[in-house]
Amino acid sequence: MSRAQRKMDHINYALTAGQGAGTMFEDIRFVHQALPGLGVEDIDLRPKTGDLNLKSPVFINAMTGGGGDHTEKLNGMLARVAKETGMAMAVGSQMSAIKDRSERPSFKVVRKENPDGIIFSNLGSEATFDQAMEAVEIIEADALQIHLNVVQELTMPEGDRDFKGALERIHHISESLPVPVIVKETGFGISYETALKLAGTKVAAIDASGYGGTNFAKIENERRAKKLDYFQEWGIPTAAAIIEVKKAFNGIVLASGGIKNAQDIIKSFVLGADAAGLAGSFLKTAIDEGESKLIESVFELHEDLAMMMTALGAGNIRDLQRCPIVISGNLGNYLIARGFD
Ligand code: FNR
Repeated sequence: MSRAQRKMDHINYALTAGQGAGTMFEDIRFVHQALPGLGVEDIDLRPKTGDLNLKSPVFINAMTGGGGDHTEKLNGMLARVAKETGMAMAVGSQMSAIKDRSERPSFKVVRKENPDGIIFSNLGSEATFDQAMEAVEIIEADALQIHLNVVQELTMPEGDRDFKGALERIHHISESLPVPVIVKETGFGISYETALKLAGTKVAAIDASGYGGTNFAKIENERRAKKLDYFQEWGIPTAAAIIEVKKAFNGIVLASGGIKNAQDIIKSFVLGADAAGLAGSFLKTAIDEGESKLIESVFELHEDLAMMMTALGAGNIRDLQRCPIVISGNLGNYLIARGFD
């Protein structure tokens, strides 16, 4: 099977079999503030993300790797949405374009459509420093995402089986690359222990990318005869993963994994995240409803964020991170079991 076909399968299965539930956001309750002392006009949605320079607290997370016309069309569309709405955008894995120059146009379109936007490159942790440089150069990226996807690889019949040396490569790349490095999961979550290892590198940001949204174990299981069922409910729920990362890492914390609406985003920020990435949910709107509807829904998302921040008395994202919340249910039990309460 070609790489382009595999990437198409990912998109199709992500829209059908691969959407999960179980972020544990449902176990978080806000504490309403009846005297917020500010108005909707006072809300500043710009996140404090240092070198990442984000203008919107929401970004389009990586999803369109592989080459081909279809990827080029989808990347072009997402890049225009990013430009119109001020969101940063990550491309999908660029390894295909590094190995095969003919696949580069499907990535370069992103810079062509959005010359001044914030764009993230994307590669797996098997990438070398030279490959990282090349990925950044192809789209003149402002940062590089390195994805960790052990469970996806193990579930893929043709996937990797050896994960040695990843931390050392990340260390080297984060020390020498001229742009900031973001390390992300792909929907199974980053633990406290993993974040602690990354805290010993020069990585600028960690995207917790937890369980509860796009589920690559389910997606890959759709493509194989003998299913690895035990991976289908594997992973750290997104709400827990944000807390795990925040405990171990002082840099920028990004939230992703099953984030669908303004409520999920605000909950991520109250848990300590600085910005939130959406992949599956944006992909679904893009494919089912088209470009202008996706742009409209992002503007609505920004409005909803400002409304909720007003009701919480939080003028900006830093204020939100200090808002009181009540955590109960499975998330409460999880935190006690992990000794995080
Ligand atoms: C992804 N994701 C992903 N991540 C990555 O780092 N490199 C990649 O190439 C891809 N490819 C990809 C394809 C498709 C079709 C989807 C839906 C997703 C993972 C993505 O960035 C994110 O971490 C997870 O999907 C969890 O977020 P959502 O989808 O639940 O919002």
